[in-house]
Formats: sequence, C-alpha cells, structure tokens
Amino acid sequence: MLDPHTDFIVPERNWWDYKYAHKLGHRYATFRMAFVEVLKSSGPDRACIETGCVREANDYGAGYSTMIIAELISWYGGSLQTVDLNPKHIALCKKLTEPFSDFITYHVGDSVAFLKSWSKPIDFLYLDSYDYPQTPKEGPIEPSQRHCLAELEAALPQLRSGSIVLIDDARMPGGGKPGLAKHRLVELGAECLLDDYQLLWRMP
Ligand SMILES: C[S@@+](CC[C@H](N)C(=O)[O-])C[C@H]1O[C@@H](n2cnc3c(N)ncnc32)[C@H](O)[C@@H]1O
Repeated sequence: MLDPHTDFIVPERNWWDYKYAHKLGHRYATFRMAFVEVLKSSGPDRACIETGCVREANDYGAGYSTMIIAELISWYGGSLQTVDLNPKHIALCKKLTEPFSDFITYHVGDSVAFLKSWSKPIDFLYLDSYDYPQTPKEGPIEPSQRHCLAELEAALPQLRSGSIVLIDDARMPGGGKPGLAKHRLVELGAECLLDDYQLLWRMP
C-alpha cells in the first residue's frame, strides 16, 4: 500500500496526475482535490460510495468514476460501493473494473433506496446518478435535481464531520444535478471546497 502523504499529495511523486490529468478535462481539479481531501481525512479503511456507475469503456467524458475511485483505494486502502439502476451498466462496469474488483461491491437498484439502507459511516460520497437533461428537449431538470437531493438526504445519517461529498454535472443550465442539494448543504453548514463542473463539499 502507498502512503498518501508521500505518493499522492507530493506533486513530484504524483502517479495520479501523470495518469489522469490529461484525461479528466473539466473534472480534473475537483476529482484531484476530492481525493487529496479523502486521503487526508480518512484511514485505509475508508468507505466510498458512488451513485451511477461507469457504463462505457474509457468513458472519461462522463468521468470514468468507478475506475478511478477504485484504483485510488487499491493503492491507499478502502472500499467502494457502486450502485446503479441499470443491470446492464453494472454488468459492464464489473467487467471494466475487474482489476480492482476486490475493492468494489456492485449493487443493482435505486440509489436513494440503497443509501437509505446503508448503515455504516461514509467517508466519500460521489453523486452521479440520474442523467441531467442537456436541453429542454431531453426533458425537465427537476427530477434529476430532486433525485440528487434525495440521495443526499438518504446519506446524511452516515456522513460524519469531515466526510467529503462530490456532485457531478453542476455547471449546467438550471444549476445541474446539485441545483437543489447545494442549498441543503449550505443549510447544513457544509463547506464548499471547489465550485466547478463538479461541486466539492466537506461536511461540518
Ligand atoms: C451519468 S451516468 C454515471 C456515469 C459514471 N459515474 C461515470 O463516471 O462514468 C448515470 C447513471 O445513473 C444511473 N441511474 C439513473 N437513475 C438511477 C437511480 N434512480 N438509481 C441509481 N442509478 C441510476 C444510470 O443507469 C446511469 O448508469
């Protein structure tokens, strides 16, 4: 296992930047800061949960989150729960992330129901389920925003002080997926660490 303080955070020894900086585009800064914060604030038994799994090979345009979170914890310790409503997406995700499958538990189902049933502390929560419409033709934005808020509410009992929450697709017309959840996070006293294409928060 690598030591996060010498092998991730110190720039000149940073394998992660070397591997992912050029691939992650507008998610690079937020993913990087999220991982640095997660490694600082939790130990090698860190518990990560992701809603919305990888559903296409090399889909860095969507974030490729299952792969990069799982690789991170394969080096520094921890576990990842990934939940997705679509069994085909979970099946493909399983194949793609096979090298890191020892660190991942795959769940088929609704993310809100899953989070309500989760009864252990969460160190890192990544919310990226329920596609956000890019144009009015694709449908209303509210269901995606309400779903994201419901995910946050469902996870709240297991988020501890210092837990890191990252929400995807924020810089979109109408406020993106976190359009409603961000107000709740402010109300709760969470600290916004980065406001970019993704929103990054630390729980109070
Ligand atoms: C944007 S994709 C996830 C992309 C992935 N995080 C990545 O970085 O490649 C959104 C996923 O959410 C899933 N989804 C939609 N509604 C859901 C729900 N209610 N519960 C769980 N997953 C859901 C979809 O099946 C889809 O796979």
